[in-house]
Amino acid sequence: MQKNLEKILNSYDSSVIETALVQLFVEANDISVKKNEFIKQLLHDKSEKVLTAKKLLTDKVETKNIIDFVNIFELLVPGDDKKINGAFFTPATITDFIVSQTITSASQKICDPSCGCGAFLIAATTYISVKFKKDIIDVIENNIYGVDIADYSIRRAKVLLSLLALKNGTDKKDIKFNLKTADSLITDWRKLFPKTEKGVDVVIGNPPYVKFQDLNKELREKLYKDWRTLKTGNYNLYFAFFELGVAIMKTDGVLGYITPNNYFTSLAGVPLREYLETNRLIEKIIDFNHLKLFEAQTYTCITFLKKNNRDFFYYERVDNYEVLSHLKELHYSKINFVDLNNRKWRLLRGSDQENIKKIEGVGKKLGDIVDIRVGIATCKDSVYFVDGLTLAGNYYSKPYQGRNYQIEKEITQPIAKISDFQVQTDLDKNSRRIIFPYQKKGGKVEIIKANELKNIYPRCYEYFLAAKAELATRDKGGIEYPEWYAYARTQGLNFSGKKLLTPTFSSEPRFLLEQDENALFCNGYAIYSIDESNLFSKVEQQLNLDTIRKILNSSVMDYYIKRTSVSIEGGYPCYQKNFIELLGIPNFTPDELGFLDQVEDRKRIDNFLVEKYGIKI
Ligand SMILES: C[S@@+](CC[C@H](N)C(=O)[O-])C[C@H]1O[C@@H](n2cnc3c(N)ncnc32)[C@H](O)[C@@H]1O
Repeated sequence: MQKNLEKILNSYDSSVIETALVQLFVEANDISVKKNEFIKQLLHDKSEKVLTAKKLLTDKVETKNIIDFVNIFELLVPGDDKKINGAFFTPATITDFIVSQTITSASQKICDPSCGCGAFLIAATTYISVKFKKDIIDVIENNIYGVDIADYSIRRAKVLLSLLALKNGTDKKDIKFNLKTADSLITDWRKLFPKTEKGVDVVIGNPPYVKFQDLNKELREKLYKDWRTLKTGNYNLYFAFFELGVAIMKTDGVLGYITPNNYFTSLAGVPLREYLETNRLIEKIIDFNHLKLFEAQTYTCITFLKKNNRDFFYYERVDNYEVLSHLKELHYSKINFVDLNNRKWRLLRGSDQENIKKIEGVGKKLGDIVDIRVGIATCKDSVYFVDGLTLAGNYYSKPYQGRNYQIEKEITQPIAKISDFQVQTDLDKNSRRIIFPYQKKGGKVEIIKANELKNIYPRCYEYFLAAKAELATRDKGGIEYPEWYAYARTQGLNFSGKKLLTPTFSSEPRFLLEQDENALFCNGYAIYSIDESNLFSKVEQQLNLDTIRKILNSSVMDYYIKRTSVSIEGGYPCYQKNFIELLGIPNFTPDELGFLDQVEDRKRIDNFLVEKYGIKI
């Protein structure tokens, strides 16, 4: 249905579709348009194109309800603009919620500085007119302000607001809109809207999510100079929309945006975090964590700002789609500004704050007693992997593009591809090997030079030649490797020893013990206690890797990581080094260590650890 509709929408000029849609809406709602010149003009167009488009669209689009109708207009945004202008549109549950939390009186001036077709402005107009019994056209002319960089969006916002008025029985020859086409980040706002000289009361919207790489060089540099929140080269445009919003609102104004939530943690977000922290601007944050609210590939949050100088703000995290229809009933926790670290914000609910403090406060930090390492990355695993079960004589067999090649046994190493294993026995049965064209020299790992490789491992060399073209596609051919058959990255080559392996993302902790000291690994992280004597001296107790494995696989770790790490869709938290290294490992008595050593039952270990950490989960 959606596909069909998009096909029709794309096969006509967008002005034809707009006209056809307006006519359909007016007919479906039985509206008589007497005065509104703008809409009358569209209704008079009976050209053949418009009539055919109307026929095609009849019964395919919702033309009764204005909100659904807005969605159809949004489908008309050209694909390229979606990327360049970050044009993704906000569902009504969100616009209605933001509007209900920000607008408090009938006289307030409301502005959306990236209004698109006006989803927020329609929600605001409806809210004010219903709540304060104000005439719709009066609201549009005196309360509502909008800017967008795309002129077609501004035109559509005007069409939609006009239809909203008409549907509610108010008509006027020439509505005086405060809607302008401009680049909000470089325009002079005083000239744009002289009526809002002292600022607006409410700023709302869904600012564009555009990476600086997608902007042209000149604009990139101008923005970098003009906005303090863009003072890392690697910014996203929405950062500056926070700063802009604060700049255009009155001292007692409020702002409510839906944006990506990666500004809590991203490196580029440091200046924005610092700006929000030092000015104590945050009023409330609703974090949608790994829920996907709309089409865009981003995880989002709603942020409310106010220049209120309070020491704390409210926070709640929504983990489940059902809560979206009850956003007004959320229970918030308080977070103190002083507890934030602008290197990375870790936002926690109240009950979690206590527990996390305890979990991180006990004993020694994991990162201080073990080595946490990232695995190798070839960027073409299929070329390098060898099936260990194919050994015949001194050679493994490697099928490639319809031929079978032989690979000398000595140039391979065992490798654990972490995503292959669900449970310990999977890892124990692992037979995967990898061609390892490196040698150890004086504690260093060096690539085997081509001549040498050709002499010592002629069959492998022959195979590499067959795969040369494919290997050259790595990194889009843009990086010169030490030899063309080298792994794309040098990470993870130089470690040996027993280790615990963890996937980078996992729904629950999955640390498995790799006994093979020579095994390489990829697709995740490993925890080494390379020098066991060193490990003992650091923790002053006999804590071995297997005990650490039991702690890392416990419900304490599960709880900890789900609260403090970032998750991808479906609830898979990230186990990257920087998310696990702060976990505290308690000091155990010899008896306790004996218990951990012997017991395998997960429930018993969990109960013991929850008590040991002194937390309530
Ligand atoms: C994420 S969309 C949101 C649209 C609308 N507010 C909504 O929520 O449905 C972002 C909008 O920002 C506009 N935009 C992008 N860059 C802009 C800029 N520099 N100034 C003003 N608007 C901009 C795009 O054209 C697009 O309509």
